[in-house]
Amino acid sequence: MKKLFGLAAGVLMVLSLAACAKEQKELVMATNAEFPPYEFHSETQEIVGIDVEICQAIADELGRKLVIEDMAFDSVITSVYTGKADIGAAGLTITEDRLKNINFSTPYTTAAQVIIVQEGSDIASPDDLTGKTIGVQLGTTGDIYAEDIEGATLERYNKGFEAVQALLQGKIDAVIIDNEPANVFVSQNEGLVIVDEAFTYEEYAIAIAKDNEQLLNEVNAAIAKLKESGKLDEIINKYISADN
Ligand code: ARG
Repeated sequence: MKKLFGLAAGVLMVLSLAACAKEQKELVMATNAEFPPYEFHSETQEIVGIDVEICQAIADELGRKLVIEDMAFDSVITSVYTGKADIGAAGLTITEDRLKNINFSTPYTTAAQVIIVQEGSDIASPDDLTGKTIGVQLGTTGDIYAEDIEGATLERYNKGFEAVQALLQGKIDAVIIDNEPANVFVSQNEGLVIVDEAFTYEEYAIAIAKDNEQLLNEVNAAIAKLKESGKLDEIINKYISADN
């Protein structure tokens, strides 16, 4: 009897060990899915986009299971900082200030802050923003740069699209936002244009906690691989057409 119990216990242990090995370690990605084409809700309410596919490809490289946590944009870096998420991927621009709290991977793409206005607006360059009412998404680089515009009134929204809606309603004079989301919002709404001259040029990267050097190295290696194989370009081209 005793022997049988021992055997049964042994079998159970082996079985649960096997189950553990098969269950992949998670790779938790913090994001704010209000930022097409990088992260947004599909018609079926799934979170999709460039960042999602890049992180899925990185997770595949690492043999980990990608888990997406959607949150307010200004919580993305905090959740990486506090270890609630392993990575932050949200069209995140590398800035000196952010580097004080978290690490960034090697950049995976470049971007710009642009100005959206109503057709016929007298705003034709960044200089014309002086004294205007400007809408931004809270906590973004657009928000940070707009703070320095002389005499401007800032309206901060939780979602970039809410700023665009305010512009459509004539509540604000301009929106400062990243170029690709700007292209998407302008193409979806009549009467809006993007000012030719960009505001700033930036690089997007993945945020990782400072004490997680190993993950940083692994993610950088995965990004290098995706660049080399052409997979990165493939993902980006799937969402951004060359003619826009
Ligand atoms: N690139 C800008 C920044 O890093 C805006 C990013 C907004 N991303 C988002 N998923 N809402 O501040």
